[in-house]
Amino acid sequence: MSIQISFFVWLSAYASCLAQTTVTIDDINDVREDIRQLLDDSGNNRDAIGAVVRLIFHDCAGPFSTTDAGLSQCNGCIDEDNEDHAGLFNGAVDPLEEVFPVYSDIMNRADFWALSATLALEYAQELDESNPGNALPAIPYYFGRETCATSPDAADTKAFVGAAWGWTDIAAWFEEHVDFTERQVVAIMGAHTLGKCHQQFSGYSSIRWKRRGPDQLNNEYFENLFAHAWTHSQSPTGLWEWTALDRGRDILMLNADMSLVMDIDDFVDLNDSGRVACPSGGCPQSPVIDIAQEFADDNQKWLDEFAQVFTQLITTGYDVDDLEVVG
Ligand code: HEM
Repeated sequence: MSIQISFFVWLSAYASCLAQTTVTIDDINDVREDIRQLLDDSGNNRDAIGAVVRLIFHDCAGPFSTTDAGLSQCNGCIDEDNEDHAGLFNGAVDPLEEVFPVYSDIMNRADFWALSATLALEYAQELDESNPGNALPAIPYYFGRETCATSPDAADTKAFVGAAWGWTDIAAWFEEHVDFTERQVVAIMGAHTLGKCHQQFSGYSSIRWKRRGPDQLNNEYFENLFAHAWTHSQSPTGLWEWTALDRGRDILMLNADMSLVMDIDDFVDLNDSGRVACPSGGCPQSPVIDIAQEFADDNQKWLDEFAQVFTQLITTGYDVDDLEVVG
């Protein structure tokens, strides 16, 4: 290769390293407007908010373990055939596909999903009227992620964290796949303040984690863990779940949620749809109950830590120095 040609090869490689996103703050404002419209149009309680936030968790913590650290990677892909992701194409991927083509020449699907979830959270916090003066810290708008070849459907798949599991398994799974500390896991679980379960997707009763405002981002999920008399029973499909007897069973917790306040590790039967048989004096307290209590007591503290861990979630599998922040 002549000196001239190799110089050009080097130059173009150098230029591609420095390649910057063409996304501007005006583009982000346009996406924000489109996403808010999509969420507003998605039902009385803006059903798509929960689905879009759940989607980014399943994307970033889901299939793909090709990073050096062995972590997952946000890559705009989930496996439609894996029942752990049931409902996500219906509730989030398909609606987002109605907006994505408008922006697909300036951002890929991995960046678009992460941006959409971030904008959904911003909106959900603004909708919360119960904590005046509280605010969600800015979550950076990162660009530069990669997508899998078959996006939005993934060719790879893996077993996802189990809704019936106890704390030890949950904490280990999060550490392995997204490198979260125990405190971060407790904080991120507060996302269940949004949306609800759908019997037709997960098999759990179609009930919310809180009675009102499933489109509002606040710490009510943690408050509810402490505020109610939770009782263990089976959903119509036979899965064991927790409902609040004192609330006429109109709110729900999964074993995974209850494991923030109750140590079910030795008492859960994963071969019996997650049945928990506590000893006569009741199950012991969860090792992370004090963290859950802190978040129940202080909405702003939870919002601060949630924003931090969510930022880590949506950059899973990347060195943030290789990504670009817009805005
Ligand atoms: C131990 C970890 C977790 C487990 C076992 C779990 C399990 C579940 C299950 C079974 C559902 C019901 C799905 C349905 O029936 O439609 C659900 C919904 C949801 N999850 Fe999680 N989840 C976990 C962590 C997370 C995290 C980390 C996030 C977000 C960062 C999240 C966000 C959501 C949201 C927003 C919904 C409501 C979806 C909707 O309304 O359509 N979850 N989760």
